[in-house]
Amino acid sequence: MNRKKKLLLGVVASPRAKLASAEYSKLLDKISDYQKMYEMIYEYAGEKKISNTEGLVLASLFGAKSEDVDAEGINLKDVFQTGKISREQLAEKLNKCEGVIIGTPVYFGDRSSWFDSFVRFIKDNGINTKDKIFGAVSVGAKRNGGQETTLIFGLLDALNRGFNVVGNGPPTSQFGGTGWAGDIGKIQDDNFGLDTSMGLGKRVGRYFEIAASVQTPLNELKIGILHSGFASGSEEIKKLVSMIEEKGAKTDILNIDDLKIKPCLGCPICPKEQGMEYGCVIKDDMIKVKNLSVSVDGLIFMLYKGKKENDQYQLFLERTRFIRRDNFILSDIPFGAYYSEKDFGGGQYTTRMFTSFLRHNMYIVSPLVQSISIENEEILIGDPSLLCDNLLRIASKSKTARNISKKKYIYEDIGYGKKR
Ligand SMILES: Cc1cc2nc3c(=O)[nH]c(=O)nc-3n(C[C@H](O)[C@H](O)[C@H](O)COP(=O)(O)O)c2cc1C
Repeated sequence: MNRKKKLLLGVVASPRAKLASAEYSKLLDKISDYQKMYEMIYEYAGEKKISNTEGLVLASLFGAKSEDVDAEGINLKDVFQTGKISREQLAEKLNKCEGVIIGTPVYFGDRSSWFDSFVRFIKDNGINTKDKIFGAVSVGAKRNGGQETTLIFGLLDALNRGFNVVGNGPPTSQFGGTGWAGDIGKIQDDNFGLDTSMGLGKRVGRYFEIAASVQTPLNELKIGILHSGFASGSEEIKKLVSMIEEKGAKTDILNIDDLKIKPCLGCPICPKEQGMEYGCVIKDDMIKVKNLSVSVDGLIFMLYKGKKENDQYQLFLERTRFIRRDNFILSDIPFGAYYSEKDFGGGQYTTRMFTSFLRHNMYIVSPLVQSISIENEEILIGDPSLLCDNLLRIASKSKTARNISKKKYIYEDIGYGKKR
């Protein structure tokens, strides 16, 4: 890869972490390949020289390094407890880096208080997060101890602070690294947790590759706008479309409510049997979604829930399964979520949209936009024009990167044929 290396900061938010910050880089320097990484984590975790979170963070940093990224580690204990690293130094590192992977233990299904302090630090110190990428790894003692809730809460924090976020990528393509270990010295037995963490690092590497790409001119971009709940041509849709088109990009708008969509059968056929072009056994209007998916450089979903709600969004979402299973057609494309509700529907749809589209191997762009109308008053959380600007910038680079290196992501039916 011919590009200036970008810096990734690996942040450890466990009070049981053992290494001093400088030691992460030394360990990373010693790792030349996967075999070495597993051996090292085996040795260090086995001898209780690293906590479980540290094991996952190291795996994620190694994953990034294998994609030509410069990685550095920081133990928050050095900042918030011992003071070996000053707050000014942390601010400097954060402003300098172009991405963060944070590791946290699961505490009551949520991230640690050090994670909390870290997020507050970013806000209080006005850290520059523009166009920076954020991913997370979490480890809990129980198999379903809240690793995923922890990651989702953490990613939400990051989106709210202006980062774009990424998941762990194929084969499982979920929300980040998920470890299963209780006592210190056990993470080395959890290959799944180490693999998902490494996958996250690789996805950060791909984001950096995109960020280093030349911008495709905006007038060569097409942004897909899918919407449900809004009438076609409604003011909200027009406004968003003009924010994109006034920058020169084209839009492709699809009203999901106009489509005939049948429920997913949960059958084992998709993405395609031999010779099956379309990818789903159900012949309905999802072909239009597929056609849009293969042609756009960015995607925004606009969802409205008012008094008269329909279920079309969920119906649509489930049926995007064949698009995901078709080797992640939407890979590396930025996604924006825009949710509007009247009288507090309480649907939490910005979170639901971002978690679902992260599974399509997309980059989720900050900010999540939510408009809440109560009587005649509108509360707007997240600026739609900022979302459009951020999304267009990534789309323009991602288009170039996707044209130059057709990174192949392969879908594997993990959990079906292959248990992991
Ligand atoms: C206060 C506290 C709360 C915890 N809550 C959970 C939990 O909700 N779910 C879970 O699976 N494990 C929970 N654990 C276990 C830790 O997440 C687990 O031991 C983890 O591996 C610790 O990572 P570390 O070695 O990096 O500190 C909790 C541990 C503590 C101390």
